[in-house]
This record gives sequence, C-alpha cells and structure tokens, in this order.
Amino acid sequence: MRLNVRPHQVFLLHETPSAADRLATFVLPNDRTPKLLETAVLVALLKALDARRVLEIGTLWGLQTLNLAANLPDDGHVWTLDLGDEDLAQAQLDARDRVIAGLPRTDGSATRAFEDPRWRDRVTKLTGDSTRFDFAPLYGSMHLVYVDGGHDARTVASDTRHAFALLDPSRPGAVVWHDDGNPHHPDVAAWLDQVGRERDVFHVGETMVAFALNHAAGALARPLA
Ligand SMILES: C[S@@+](CC[C@H](N)C(=O)[O-])C[C@H]1O[C@@H](n2cnc3c(N)ncnc32)[C@H](O)[C@@H]1O
Repeated sequence: MRLNVRPHQVFLLHETPSAADRLATFVLPNDRTPKLLETAVLVALLKALDARRVLEIGTLWGLQTLNLAANLPDDGHVWTLDLGDEDLAQAQLDARDRVIAGLPRTDGSATRAFEDPRWRDRVTKLTGDSTRFDFAPLYGSMHLVYVDGGHDARTVASDTRHAFALLDPSRPGAVVWHDDGNPHHPDVAAWLDQVGRERDVFHVGETMVAFALNHAAGALARPLA
C-alpha cells in the first residue's frame, strides 16, 4: 500500500533516553545541498534502524554520502555508486539525468564532500552503471539503501530490485527513495505505486522521500501504518 506519514512520525521512530542521544550532524544547507528536512528524515531512519552498513545509488558531489557517514557509529560504513566517465556515454539517462550526470564531480571543492580526511575512511566509492553493476557480492548485507541515481522507469525498477536484495533480512532495514513526487521525475512515483501493490511504501509529507521497511523492521512499521 502507498501510505503518507509526517516527518515527525519518522523522527519519533528513533526512541532515545535523552536529548543528547538524538543529536545529529548535517552539512548546513545552501542551494547545492540536499534539503535539510529530507536529510533529517534519512538520518532519523538510519538511527532508528541502528544502521551500520549503508549503500547509496547516486553519489553526485557526495553531500548526502557525507551526511550518512557522519551519522553512523564509528564502525559504520557507506558504499556509494555513481557513473564513471566511461559509463556516461553508454548509460540510458533521461534528459534531466543526463544534465546532472554530466556535472563536474565536485561542487567546486577540490574533492567530493565525503573525501574530507575526517570522513573518507567511512566511505567506499563504487563506480559503474547501477543497471549493469554487480551488486551480488553485497547482497544481504546492508541495513539501509538510498536510491537516488537515474530516475527513468527502467533504472528505478532495476535499482529498487537490487536495493531489496541488498538488505540484510536478519535485522531491521529500509530502502529509501528520493524524488517520490518530483514533477521532473514522474517515473519514480509511478514505479513506487507498483511497489506499493506488494508492500507498504511510506511517502514522507513535505519531502520527496519515500521508504519501505523490511520484514524484520515490522515493530518499527507498526506506529506508521
Ligand atoms: C540526484 S544525483 C544524486 C545526489 C546525491 N544522492 C545527494 O543527495 O547528494 C543523481 C546521481 O546519480 C547518478 N546516476 C544516474 N544514473 C545512474 C546509473 N545508472 N548508475 C549510477 N549512477 C547513476 C548521476 O551521475 C548523479 O550523480
């Protein structure tokens, strides 16, 4: 089913004994960063799931990668995949994605955001086209997968299929999508409507974030349903 939740409902999933345990770390926003509320929702899910292993599809400048890495425990790790230069020519991208994929690989800084010496050990950069990348060695090992790569129907369908296979079924986990409801990327919402026929997909109000929890996260899902 497709369900709507409010951001605070997601924040409340992270139950903590004290305010200090709810502290989070974000890159302060400007016109190039991910939206603050969307990042907060993503980080709340990360913390509610006690996630330690995260995979992101679609790195771009590595800003959300940095937000993810900075909110993991010391033993946490993020894998982030983006097209390499040689993939760009062959990748099937819609017009808007081709513009974004063709942008310089940093936001003007010398390196991608997560390549700062304070965070880079927490991140593994993967290169390739997600529709052809061999995710199999990582299947069953992730606690959260963030799908924010290509936005055409074929790519979102393929990335979603891999994302669920990447989750570790033995512990709580989530697939999170960006651009649900983005008028520039209508295929995302259309595909999530399909996913919603088989499982609960939660759209977070005031954002373009949607997520699905795995079976082991059933206790977390109950207050949302
Ligand atoms: C919207 S940006 C990602 C933004 C990033 N997640 C953030 O919030 O900071 C989308 C990225 O996905 C990449 N991409 C598009 N199609 C892809 C594909 N088939 N495989 C891997 N990466 C892809 C693009 O190169 C682009 O960098």
